[in-house]
Amino acid sequence: MKTFDPKVFRLGYVALATADIERTKQHYLKAIGLTQTATGDDGSVFLSLGYDQHNIVLSPAGEKALRHVGFQLNPGIAVAEFAKQVRAFGLVAEIKTDSQPGIAELVEVEGPGNSIFQFYGTMEAPAPGFKKTAVAPVRLGHLAVVSPEGEKLVKFYEEFLGFRYTDDIQGIATFLTCNREHHVVNVVSAPESRLHHIAFELKDTAYHAVAADSLRAAGVKQLWGPSGHNIAGYHYDPDKVIVELYTEMDQFIPELGFHEPRPWHEHLPMRPRTWQLTELNAWGAEFSFNLAQG
Ligand SMILES: [Fe+2]
Repeated sequence: MKTFDPKVFRLGYVALATADIERTKQHYLKAIGLTQTATGDDGSVFLSLGYDQHNIVLSPAGEKALRHVGFQLNPGIAVAEFAKQVRAFGLVAEIKTDSQPGIAELVEVEGPGNSIFQFYGTMEAPAPGFKKTAVAPVRLGHLAVVSPEGEKLVKFYEEFLGFRYTDDIQGIATFLTCNREHHVVNVVSAPESRLHHIAFELKDTAYHAVAADSLRAAGVKQLWGPSGHNIAGYHYDPDKVIVELYTEMDQFIPELGFHEPRPWHEHLPMRPRTWQLTELNAWGAEFSFNLAQG
């Protein structure tokens, strides 16, 4: 069995560009329930789920875009050493100091398909606390990206960062993890470059109803769900970025090479495999939106 010793252990933050920062900020503050911890010189806003300096960064721009993704390095890896390893892998790496609030030093990497990564060792934690109203998720769990360089991107995650492949859907969408969650990243290979969705974990499954009620009160409709293996509901943010709220994510056991067995698994044990599109919806509900479109 391959060893599982990824260079990073969690997704720290996602930075989005938006054409209407006030409207988008209000969604994440009021409907989702994040807290603003800082404002950047360029008008960026830094939003925290409740502990970290930031988990979502919004920046004003002409149109929506995924600016970059921040991963936290394993404690044993120094920033300078990591930058060297990135360059040896053949990618451009730049060490940045004080580039954003709460992170003194990070390595910015230009990955395949013009995807920008930031890798940091430590982030300040002002711990503004978790909201008691609104959706109030507990963590940022994963993101899904569409990339024309999907294969290269998967290679970067697997071969360089040490992520583990946990499943794919017909070879088009590949799920990868750097911790015990079934996926921290989902890479969709398609001839376009964009963020597909970001996913927050809720406190527990009962909170799906609270979350749906909170979103409705804020004028936000569900796109689809909640349903699935990991129970997930989806809605659009004001920029039509899909936001997923999930609980009960399958837990991968790298030591065994399969997922923690659950009563609803169609395969016992559930090992990483290629799923067909027809296998994705055991309860028979029609998808009311197409996950392949943004
Ligand atoms: Fe997802």
